Amino acid sequence: MDIQKFYVLGTGTMGNGIVQVAAQTGFDVTAVDINQDLLDKAKAMIGKNLGRMVKKEKISQEDADAALNRITFTTEPDFGQADFVVEAVSENPDLKDKIFKKLDEECKEGVILASNTSTISITRLAANTNRADKVIGMHFMNPVPMMKLVEVINGLKTSDETYKVVDELAKKMGKIPILVNDYPGFVSNRILMPMINEAVYALMEGVAEVEAIDGVMKLGMAHPMGPLRLADLIGLDVCLAIMEVLFTDLADTKYRPCPLLKKMVASGDLGNKTGKGFYDYTEDPKNPVARTVR
Ligand SMILES: NC(=O)c1ccc[n+]([C@@H]2O[C@H](COP(=O)([O-])OP(=O)(O)OC[C@H]3O[C@@H](n4cnc5c(N)ncnc54)[C@H](O)[C@@H]3O)[C@@H](O)[C@H]2O)c1
Repeated sequence: MDIQKFYVLGTGTMGNGIVQVAAQTGFDVTAVDINQDLLDKAKAMIGKNLGRMVKKEKISQEDADAALNRITFTTEPDFGQADFVVEAVSENPDLKDKIFKKLDEECKEGVILASNTSTISITRLAANTNRADKVIGMHFMNPVPMMKLVEVINGLKTSDETYKVVDELAKKMGKIPILVNDYPGFVSNRILMPMINEAVYALMEGVAEVEAIDGVMKLGMAHPMGPLRLADLIGLDVCLAIMEVLFTDLADTKYRPCPLLKKMVASGDLGNKTGKGFYDYTEDPKNPVARTVR
């Protein structure tokens, strides 16, 4: 595997974690977003995360500095230099279609194009390119530096060679890859997201309040985090986008997005990233207060 120049498109919740882990595991990373403010935010977040690891003596200050120095933040990438690309832009099928078309035009022949999409078909994204055998899903989990799993998704035309490279790459990044096939939601979100959506229905129908719903799932099912708190962490807009793909592509009403989830997204309260979701993070982000939402 001859991959050194590792490009990441999108430096939001997921992108900045992928950038950090790739830099920590020795790749020269180019982090791309649409404006300088977002890049500055991502850089500050990565600096803070690395600083925390130094404080906990998980890594040395030299390692943290070296990782940061391996990252270039830019709004004007030269994709012709890339050895590998992971796309982690917003979960919007039309946007991702355009990006895969552009990446195919600008990247060297043979470069693998991976997507961190939560639900959008890898086969569909690949159809925008002339290298469908080199398009694959590389679905990192949130928060990327902490979570071990990478769900690797083979599209209909993904080659075995591409899968092997990505499997090896994920291991080099300290992750454990698991291979799945390309169906809506893959395995992770096919199972996780209907559970979260059902928790929002339970809240909407007044079955219980936010803390009670999360408490039942934490104490009773040994989940480390309740479904509503997890929804805030993932981003309510991302949760809704995933439910919409499951609903449309599996054409089954059991996947209909909860109206309260839709209302929350319309209000702009998207969870941790905006300061408010099912919990309020504005006073103390580590100890958020459950909100009353109807
Ligand atoms: N949030 C999660 O827990 C989670 C988990 C696994 C996978 N995902 C997937 O990861 C992807 C990113 O999700 P996120 O939660 O990080 O979203 P986010 O909204 O936090 O970040 C998306 C970023 O993409 C940037 N962007 C938009 N258009 C762009 C373009 N043309 N070029 C470069 N950057 C662009 C945005 O400015 C933003 O910074 C989505 O496909 C999502 O489904 C999310």
